[in-house]
Amino acid sequence: MVNVGMNSLVELAVDLGGLKMKNPFTVASGTFASGREYADLWAATMDTADCDGLATKLAFNPDKPLSILGALTTKGVSHKSWPGNTGIRITETASGMLNSIGLQNPGVEDFCTKDISWFGSQGVPVIVNVSGHSVDEYRRVVERLEREGAVTAYEINISCPNVDCGGMSFGIDPRAAAEVTQACRALTKRPLIIKLTPNVTDITEIARACEAAGASGLSLINTVAGMAIDIRARKPLFDRKMAGLSGPAIKPIALWAVHRVYGAVKLPILGMGGITNAEDVFEFMLAGATAVAVGSQNFTDPLSVPRLIVEFAELCEREGVKNIDELIGGLE
Ligand SMILES: Cc1cc2nc3c(=O)[nH]c(=O)nc-3n(C[C@H](O)[C@H](O)[C@H](O)COP(=O)(O)O)c2cc1C
Repeated sequence: MVNVGMNSLVELAVDLGGLKMKNPFTVASGTFASGREYADLWAATMDTADCDGLATKLAFNPDKPLSILGALTTKGVSHKSWPGNTGIRITETASGMLNSIGLQNPGVEDFCTKDISWFGSQGVPVIVNVSGHSVDEYRRVVERLEREGAVTAYEINISCPNVDCGGMSFGIDPRAAAEVTQACRALTKRPLIIKLTPNVTDITEIARACEAAGASGLSLINTVAGMAIDIRARKPLFDRKMAGLSGPAIKPIALWAVHRVYGAVKLPILGMGGITNAEDVFEFMLAGATAVAVGSQNFTDPLSVPRLIVEFAELCEREGVKNIDELIGGLE
């Protein structure tokens, strides 16, 4: 048994493009809000009999529940408030889910007022996920967040399939991807992680463009474009027709993307897409991820991340891994 919090036999700390993480785990943007609900739930349940001693193994501090994470990643934040999409927003699929949230959020000012001061009390590095309809909107969000000390890094979402203007349109064109990256880079010295879409012919082309434009790291993958149909109405289920597929169904696509991008650029990768267990995390790291984000699995089991941290450390110990750096891109 490892005690991840105090004296794990495995060195779990990683450096994600200047972002120091005590373990390789963060949450996928949009599946964890700003973390308050999960913090309350973890504080209330971590020490119960159902949790198999998780609290002890993680040296869990109920006053700072999120401090067990390597980093917290927030929901997407835009310059002004966005209402999100109309109609149905989520449906379950075989081995995954489709969502069409449309990046609903109250805007950066509200985010700064309500969430930022709370982050400061949590003792966890914070990656703020940034959305925009235009280069100028991305720029304005980063500019505003630069005034906040509790922000550790940025994840720039140029890959959301669920908004009409902006979002994925930047992530499918290397020039546009570079332009957003460069504009944000000019505003900050903080780690700048660009989040890529798998909905392209060659993801390595976009990755190279972001690297050349000054990204500190890459995050992949965002959701895979898909649709669902209401057979009685004979209409697409989602008002925008297209929605984003996530969950275990996309893990092979994500692994392939991580593996290819790892071979194409020198930047560290935050890998995600369908992670549900410790073996998945091991696979992502062997494919080339420096750190991982857990998304849809939070909806299946809200305690999945604490469990995964412990199970991954135990797996590494069983596999004779002393320092997880040796796993990154460690395919034979
Ligand atoms: C309900 C929902 C909301 C999401 N919102 C965002 C978001 O605001 N910004 C973003 O970059 N990605 C967003 N994503 C994508 C996830 O961060 C992640 O890239 C994707 O779900 C794949 O990981 P998973 O299979 O573990 O869920 C969202 C995904 C879901 C399911």
